[in-house]
Amino acid sequence: MAAEVSGFSKLSKTDKIKWLAEHHFDSDQEAINTLMTYWNEDHQLQQLHDEFTENTISNYYLPFSVAPNFLINDKRYTLPMTIEESSVVAAASKAAKFWQDRGGFHAEVISTTKVGQVHFMFVGDAKKLQEFIVDIQNKLLFSVAPIAKNMEKRGGGVKSLELVDKTSDIENYYQLHCTFETVDAMGANFINSCLEQFANTIKEEANTYPDFTEEEKNIDIVMSILSNYVPQCLVKASVFCKVDELPNTTTLSSRAYAEKFVRAVRIAEVEPYRAVTHNKGIMNGIDAVVLATGNDFRAIEAGAHAYASRNGTYTSLTHAEINNDIFTFSIELPLALGTVGGLTSLHPLVKLALQLLGKPNSSQLMQITAVAGLAQNFAAINSLITTGIQQGHMKMHLMNILNQFQATASEKEILIKYFETNTVTHSEVVTQIEKLRS
Ligand code: MEV
Repeated sequence: MAAEVSGFSKLSKTDKIKWLAEHHFDSDQEAINTLMTYWNEDHQLQQLHDEFTENTISNYYLPFSVAPNFLINDKRYTLPMTIEESSVVAAASKAAKFWQDRGGFHAEVISTTKVGQVHFMFVGDAKKLQEFIVDIQNKLLFSVAPIAKNMEKRGGGVKSLELVDKTSDIENYYQLHCTFETVDAMGANFINSCLEQFANTIKEEANTYPDFTEEEKNIDIVMSILSNYVPQCLVKASVFCKVDELPNTTTLSSRAYAEKFVRAVRIAEVEPYRAVTHNKGIMNGIDAVVLATGNDFRAIEAGAHAYASRNGTYTSLTHAEINNDIFTFSIELPLALGTVGGLTSLHPLVKLALQLLGKPNSSQLMQITAVAGLAQNFAAINSLITTGIQQGHMKMHLMNILNQFQATASEKEILIKYFETNTVTHSEVVTQIEKLRS
């Protein structure tokens, strides 16, 4: 059982590590060294990272990679991708290269509306509550004017306020369902500040509303929070080409490839067990761009999976069809992304990632990110319906196994060459390392 401690957050970084070493690592210097190895020598940069969260004791590296050759709406991009899974970036790059010779990716933002709700309990006449919300509409908007001022200057702000009666689900439960436009910001702070102010205003105004009884005046605010389900912050991306421009092998003609591809997507549309893995592969690409550009990948994940279940059954986020000899493959999903605020101007690598993308606005970033998901899914299905995924995966995983056995540069060179023509399995790599070393 871990030791108890109080006032931990107030200890210096060194004292926090000392406490950890004493209580968790038998005062092992090796553990302390591991943590300190990852400190950055640039004190200012280290302090910046330390201050992103509380109780920071070290840095946790993930690879920052790039996938070139993404032609999106006739403009070429090099995508920044932050991900640990070995085959993802290679797969994205391969898909990008394939589609750049077939017109590239097409992407469009369908909508950009975000949502937040004040959840509250009201005991009384629902009709009177409805009138009350209509009556105080202007006061609600006026109360957030100082918060919304800058957002409005940029073309955003509060879009709508609506009372929703949820009493059939929970007795006395209502919502103020609010929609927002947050332009290039993800907007979480703006939305949550507005919602908390709405809640205060509702409470205050109810207290003096002449038509309410004493019980009705006593509105109980449960919580005020944005929703990460944003089905009206939607982006679509697609690729298309003639069927005979698709890959063909000795065992699979282009037409058979197209039909098998469509069937594989269809399976993900109807079979949740497959859909989850299928969408996980899509999120490999999406999360990698989301993380590299300093956005909240948990919010994106939650929203995407909720969208995949919007009709009551979990289904594929991508779709494929053949029509008049044209193969079309597309994705549609909600992506509430920001290119200003949050980490975007704080984290040096996030700044660089956005620069790499030509400083996109949030709509452009939505398009780029959806394309990363579509490309990833194309690469995965391409492997699944042809060679299987293990061939590519294990080739990429080879380096991880070699590093696990601390292979030297010359050992790596020999073994990478060997596995160009031999199947990579963990045991075969171990056998070959041992053979080399004996
Ligand atoms: C692995 O991270 C992702 C895949 O399993 C996705 C898929 O099966 O479509 C390859």
